[in-house]
Amino acid sequence: MEKLNDYLCRYKGYVFPLDLLQEENIDCLQNFEIRDSDIFLVTYPKSGTIWTQNIIMLICESDSTGETEFTNNLEKMPWLEYPQGHSDYSSRASPRSFTSHLRPLLMPPGLKDKKAKIVYVARNPKDVAVSYFHFCHAWTNFETPKSFEEFLQQFLAGDVNGSSWFDHIREWHTNRDEYNILFLTYEDMIMDLRSAVGKISRFLGRDLDEAALSRVVEKATFKNMKKDPKANYEFVPAEMIQGAYMRKGTVGDWKNTFTVAENEMFDRIYQERMKDLPFQFIWDMR
Ligand code: A3P
Repeated sequence: MEKLNDYLCRYKGYVFPLDLLQEENIDCLQNFEIRDSDIFLVTYPKSGTIWTQNIIMLICESDSTGETEFTNNLEKMPWLEYPQGHSDYSSRASPRSFTSHLRPLLMPPGLKDKKAKIVYVARNPKDVAVSYFHFCHAWTNFETPKSFEEFLQQFLAGDVNGSSWFDHIREWHTNRDEYNILFLTYEDMIMDLRSAVGKISRFLGRDLDEAALSRVVEKATFKNMKKDPKANYEFVPAEMIQGAYMRKGTVGDWKNTFTVAENEMFDRIYQERMKDLPFQFIWDMR
């Protein structure tokens, strides 16, 4: 493990928060037994993780009584790389579900049997950078950036938790044939939540009727989810976060932060690094 600063470290080519990384947890994932029924949500940070986590949970629970041993989405769909208090999920009832920001190389190899399902959500990287910048002010164990200019340089260099956005999306996309994976974008979800929920539910093999679909969509809107204590992450203790996970939830907020020069520089780097990938992000809703 290589310490990068007081907050971050690099392990196996990936940048982790120093306070959360336990190397043996990451190593153990190479022997993590995958069940065919497992569901994984994979994202780069600030790409709509807790939103999609909520949607997956609502879909999975739509045919149940709503009774569960877990009190919130973090417990129901824990972060694979940071086991909450324990690392043994073998006693969990199926279907199990997990959340991760990891790159493919660090994921359990059993996922390559292509039976367990992965939902991958990507978000346009300018909005990711701005959302991340704000999150660094809120998350007490991240360095507070001196300026957006400084943070943008760190983001572009991949010196942030989650490493480089460009590497993350490239690695998952170029290795996609090895997995049973559904790609979605945050912007698609914003533009047509109903259709995104439909896609996710069909992919998970839980085709919902119109009424059940409507219930999931209703609970997953920004306004309603923000009021849902199981989903809005306000249960995270104040000593860890001073602010909200659910901040604005829009497309194009980057325009309020990027300067013209930063935008031009970003576009140049984006063109160069994404030229051979098929992603067409929506940068603004207007
Ligand atoms: P903003 O900071 O741009 O508002 P993650 O969960 O990966 O950390 O992503 C956080 C981003 O997802 C935040 O973006 C947050 O507001 C947004 N988000 C969370 N729930 C949402 C919802 N129901 N609808 C739209 N955006 C949501």
